[in-house]
Amino acid sequence: MYKIPANTLFMGQNLVFVPDCPSTNTLALQISQQSPVNEGTLVITDHQTAGKGQRGNVWEAEPGKNLTFSLILKPKFLAINKQFFLNIVICLALRDYLKEKTSCAIYIKWPNDILVHEKKISGILIENQLQSSTILSTIAGIGLNVNQKHFNTSTATSMTMVTSDIFELGAELSILLGFIESRYIQLRQGHSDVLMNLYLDALYRRNEKHIFSSHGNLFEGVIEDLDPSGRLRIRMRDEVKSFGIKEIQYV
Ligand code: BTN
Repeated sequence: MYKIPANTLFMGQNLVFVPDCPSTNTLALQISQQSPVNEGTLVITDHQTAGKGQRGNVWEAEPGKNLTFSLILKPKFLAINKQFFLNIVICLALRDYLKEKTSCAIYIKWPNDILVHEKKISGILIENQLQSSTILSTIAGIGLNVNQKHFNTSTATSMTMVTSDIFELGAELSILLGFIESRYIQLRQGHSDVLMNLYLDALYRRNEKHIFSSHGNLFEGVIEDLDPSGRLRIRMRDEVKSFGIKEIQYV
């Protein structure tokens, strides 16, 4: 069902399919540690039995209806303190792809939830393997809700719910990989400023007053931008504070 994409140079050119596995991120990490693998190696399954989400959450996806895969990247060109740009690359690629497919406005909820009509359509889990000051390898895990029609939560949606179309997963994977490769090459070529500006333009609830929660305290603030390491900068009254992923929640 999944074929080597014809439209990429390296993304997905080595493709590992397993019918089921606990988590493609975990499997991709094992594969990358066992023997040398080419950049862009793709690990994909129809059924994750213990899909991992951010903040230790579980990623649930109905078997055979969605895309659940991980890419092995080797961003040796990227300084450790710029590793958030890998999140930016994958978010923007998903946004490029979903804009084309759904013709809807696509927002990025920091750090890397992809939203359409205020509901989550895709989640990303990036895990970097670091050694002293270099990023040895990156596992970029992507869950994209494609043909699933029912979710346990009302805050999730899918491509089919948004468009009423049914999608062929293999074909959609190839198109998406093309977008991911383009944005990744843009980063490799040094265009991180362009990527950051596009990310900020797509940021959900940016420049609007909202209530946030941090360590159990509620406060009103306005998302301004990100600091150089990808922390969210929120203006509260006269000061601007930066928050990491475990330090802030949207209310
Ligand atoms: C999130 O939004 O919480 C991140 C979800 C990431 C899910 C994907 S599915 C493929 C890959 N393998 C995993 O175990 N997780 C990621």
